[in-house]
Amino acid sequence: MSVFKENFVLSNGIEIPKIGFGTWQIPNGEDAYQAVRLALKHQYRHIDTAASYQNEQSVGQAIKDSGIAREEIFVTTKLASHIKTYQDALDAFDQTLKDLGLSYVDLYLIHAPWPWNDIGKDCKQGNIEAWKALEVIYQSGRAKAIGVSNFSPSDLENVMNHAKIVPHVNQIAMFIGRDQKETEAFCKKHKILIEAYSPLGTGRILSENRIVEMAKKYQVTPAQLCIRYCLEKHALPLPKSTHESRMIENSHVDFRISADDMKILESI
Ligand SMILES: NC(=O)c1ccc[n+]([C@@H]2O[C@H](COP(=O)([O-])OP(=O)(O)OC[C@H]3O[C@@H](n4cnc5c(N)ncnc54)[C@H](OP(=O)(O)O)[C@@H]3O)[C@@H](O)[C@H]2O)c1
Repeated sequence: MSVFKENFVLSNGIEIPKIGFGTWQIPNGEDAYQAVRLALKHQYRHIDTAASYQNEQSVGQAIKDSGIAREEIFVTTKLASHIKTYQDALDAFDQTLKDLGLSYVDLYLIHAPWPWNDIGKDCKQGNIEAWKALEVIYQSGRAKAIGVSNFSPSDLENVMNHAKIVPHVNQIAMFIGRDQKETEAFCKKHKILIEAYSPLGTGRILSENRIVEMAKKYQVTPAQLCIRYCLEKHALPLPKSTHESRMIENSHVDFRISADDMKILESI
């Protein structure tokens, strides 16, 4: 069965297509517009963007122009990482909907527990405030699910200690050679779906010898092996490409990796 016909189910019952199309570093305008149009043409039904990617306008336009019913496309976007007050988060969400040209998103995430230009800064109180804003947005129906990104177990605990709603998703870096076992275990325990960002290591791991060899064994490409690896770990991969042939390649991952080979890949 095509992986495009398969969904994960979030803890609130919302279904989410098992592969998402990443749009980081695709410039707003023709590039992002064409990339999303092509991804939708090739059956991707889950698009991942963020306010800080500055391409929400083109992503939204491509969704609109695709002619595909809105409810058939799962759209994720993210609150910019420096926004850490309740009111600023609500305002940012209004702007995001305007930029996307949509009346709702399927998933809204806090992009990171700290501003990207101040990684590790203590934003405990700010994350609690931002989360309260996301809960209000969720309860208004303008986001069908809410979550976080780049959150460690302690970042999650901080928010959950003050939350009415447990995050539905945590989007984290996950690729062969980059596992986050404690975060994976914490999320599993609390029924928080992990989305694997940079599943190809932003393209950097595709020529790694052991990955190339293992891909040959399965008669797939290194990219396909990397994407399947995430799925075997019950994480939702978000590969990005601006090339049509790669978009197609990245969606043909209907094979299984044996438990023994997963162990080898996990040891890389
Ligand atoms: N929440 C966060 O903080 C966060 C952080 C990073 C990423 N993300 C999300 O995750 C998505 C994916 O991560 P990513 O953009 O870092 O990178 P990625 O998907 O791991 O890799 C993309 C890179 O690999 C190349 N590529 C794609 N398919 C290929 C294939 N089949 N063969 C060879 N090369 C291939 C792409 O080049 P071409 O485009 O030239 O094909 C690009 O250079 C992002 O777009 C974003 O949506 C989220």
